Amino acid sequence: MKPPNLKPETVPSPIHHTFGPHVDRRYLWNTIALSYIPWRYVRGKSCHQLKQELKKLLPGEPALFASGREALLALLRSLDLRPGNEVIVQGYTCVVVPNAMHAVGAVPVYADIDRDTLNLTKESVEACITPRTKAVICQHTFGIPAPVKELRKLCNERGIFLIEDMAHIIPDKPLRVSLPPSLGVGEAGDFLILSFGRDKAVSGIEGGAVISRDPAVSRKIAEMERTALHRKWWEVARLLEYPTRMHSIVRPLAGTTLFKPVVWLMQKLGMIAPVLTQTEKDGSMYPILRKLPNACASLVLGELKRLPAINDRRRTISDFFLHHGRKHGWPMLNGITQGLPLQKFPLFVGDAEKKRQMLKAMNIHLDDGWTGCVVCPATCNLNNAGYRWGQDPETEAASEQILSLPTHPTMTLYQAQVLAEKVDEWMKRIAVQE
Ligand SMILES: Cc1ncc(COP(=O)(O)O)c(C=O)c1O
Repeated sequence: MKPPNLKPETVPSPIHHTFGPHVDRRYLWNTIALSYIPWRYVRGKSCHQLKQELKKLLPGEPALFASGREALLALLRSLDLRPGNEVIVQGYTCVVVPNAMHAVGAVPVYADIDRDTLNLTKESVEACITPRTKAVICQHTFGIPAPVKELRKLCNERGIFLIEDMAHIIPDKPLRVSLPPSLGVGEAGDFLILSFGRDKAVSGIEGGAVISRDPAVSRKIAEMERTALHRKWWEVARLLEYPTRMHSIVRPLAGTTLFKPVVWLMQKLGMIAPVLTQTEKDGSMYPILRKLPNACASLVLGELKRLPAINDRRRTISDFFLHHGRKHGWPMLNGITQGLPLQKFPLFVGDAEKKRQMLKAMNIHLDDGWTGCVVCPATCNLNNAGYRWGQDPETEAASEQILSLPTHPTMTLYQAQVLAEKVDEWMKRIAVQE
């Protein structure tokens, strides 16, 4: 049965997380238009304009870099961390986060997560604090708000910096776990990290920002931003080809026998830049900071202009999964509430990997790099990331069972319904077996 007002003919196949989730017609035309003005690839007014927009959205002094990981590196450098200083971060994070810590000689200390939010808790952070702790990085995993009010209080008491990692969410309106005067996402941190990667809250294909609320630190970061290297114009040209490749090659081929060899070949020929290099998966980070290219800033500006619409789409799909899941007894996270513009909608299921493989045969691609890993993706070197197996049991259990459903701006409600019916089938089967 199809829900009312959903048009099956508008379903763009396939269902996916990573085949250009922001790339709709408007995004595509923006990048094509930008590709015809190569003199604006690297330099232009967009970076300045983007900073003005960010200031309106999130108070503080923004600085722009070529990626979120470089923004984090600039921030950690500006905090004058000494070798052996510790930074608390949650298990179930991206490998680039501990890499940035290692690049400044700091030690990542992994705190366990709350399985209902996939985020840090005050208790798990408190258990990790030592005299060497300098900062806590609090991630709003997939857009689920972390308990920032409690963490703010704890960091104030212990004299520790609080960094909010907002790679997965940029709120268009206050997003709080409880009513004011509670603090919302992006309101509690001394510093905020944003990512404009291709699958993130908003996309400039690549890019990142740090927002500082400490004037002395802001000055140091501004100097690093000023002296960062420009990206080469041909690198930007290659980035601008990404939306067309996703829209015209990858998505149409998904589900066919040509998909795997063509994507492999495109990667080998450098036609699709990897999100993570092998060096990064092995636990190191390139130490040179690069500026955000003007063309990427221009794409982010376009996305910020329609942030309410982007987040509304995420809210609609997240709410659909939430209500459907409640009605059909899905094993959901209690921390997901109505009205959240989630980056993706996580569920806990048994045999998550087997289910993803099964769905692939139906042209449903749910591998997003955040499955079966405590420091993600699963192909990264856990030892080099500084994680010891067994240290965070909640994180390890959650990461094994997680299966996330897409909620991105090009996902349709009809696709969400198709996916929901698949999950219902599993639930029925499990109920029969029990
Ligand atoms: C939680 C988190 N923080 C930071 C980053 C870094 O963002 P970027 O890819 O722009 O370097 C990522 C990227 O995957 C992330 O998932």
